Amino acid sequence: MTKPARGTEKLPDKLVDSFDRRINYMRISVTDRCNLRCRYCMPQQGLDLLSPDQVLHYEELLRIARLAVAGGITKVRITGGEPLVRKGLLEFVSSLSRIEGIHDLALTTNGLLLEKYARGLYEAGLRRVNVSLDTLKADRYARITRSDSLEKVMAGIGAARDEGLNPVKINMVVIRGLNHDEVVDFAALTRDEKLHVRFIEFMPLGEDEFWSREMYVPSDEVKALVEKSQKLVPAKSGGSGPAVMYRFPKGKGQIGFISPISNHFCRSCDRLRLTADGKLRTCLFSDTEIDLMTPIRNGITDEELFNLLHHGTKSKPRGHNMHADPGNTDRYMSQIGG
Ligand code: 5AD
Ligand code: SF4
Repeated sequence: MTKPARGTEKLPDKLVDSFDRRINYMRISVTDRCNLRCRYCMPQQGLDLLSPDQVLHYEELLRIARLAVAGGITKVRITGGEPLVRKGLLEFVSSLSRIEGIHDLALTTNGLLLEKYARGLYEAGLRRVNVSLDTLKADRYARITRSDSLEKVMAGIGAARDEGLNPVKINMVVIRGLNHDEVVDFAALTRDEKLHVRFIEFMPLGEDEFWSREMYVPSDEVKALVEKSQKLVPAKSGGSGPAVMYRFPKGKGQIGFISPISNHFCRSCDRLRLTADGKLRTCLFSDTEIDLMTPIRNGITDEELFNLLHHGTKSKPRGHNMHADPGNTDRYMSQIGG
């Protein structure tokens, strides 16, 4: 990748990419570490993990976040790996939540440590969590995640709800042959509780051989499976994300479908990702990244860093072509954060 010239041009204040998409959402991965080993997210043999000095410090993350907010970012999501395994996360959340201009601060977690941290997260200013959960069966959970901790996740979801992190959103990646027979059970969780269940299409990421077209279940098919139990009615999405929302007619919660493959939302994509090792990743499926860590550690000024964010945004590709041509990426999901 060629390095963009820095600080040489006059740039607009707001982050806008080359296709006129306004960027207002940043996903910040705070660690590549995880206390699970989900089969579709990490290779069996594990990954080389970053050493602490290869990970952006909280002050560095906050500096980027402040500049990104000056560039129009209003939504921030903390991801990982598993963000709750990083030390000091509550203080980081607290600092982020005090940045004026962030109107929506959320966190994606596997839920294992949520029972322990739900209250602290709420007190630190977090208001929303997404919990990744792909099965409600203990033996299957152990097989998918290589860990025996379904009960902990369920307790974590309960704790998040009780502490006011509502509505808790459960993300289920639907994989044929692995868990697609559970979509009705997941949807049923929204009948009596205010939680949201979102079905996500399985995407090919990393160089893993795990993904195959046969395992990928398009959202239309998932919806048809759910509707075998009862027809869904459209629900107001309540947010600007890519999920298309429904509910059962008398359901308290909502059911969403996220279709990055069958109905990709690239045209309205409003996000940037920051990886734990300090790369600005402009598209989940594109390995084009802009290194922020090196210039930061070499003493870049705020103005130069702001310009670098602008230049990075300009390199955001128009979209991906995963449906026609599912390819691999350099990074696994655990190294990007979803
Ligand atoms: N396809 C779709 N979703 C995935 N996730 C992890 N790997 C994949 C994949 N290959 C999900 C996790 C989590 C979110 C960060 O991304 O389950 O909910
Ligand atoms: Fe960890 Fe999430 Fe990847 Fe599972 S999907 S290994 S919980 S980062």
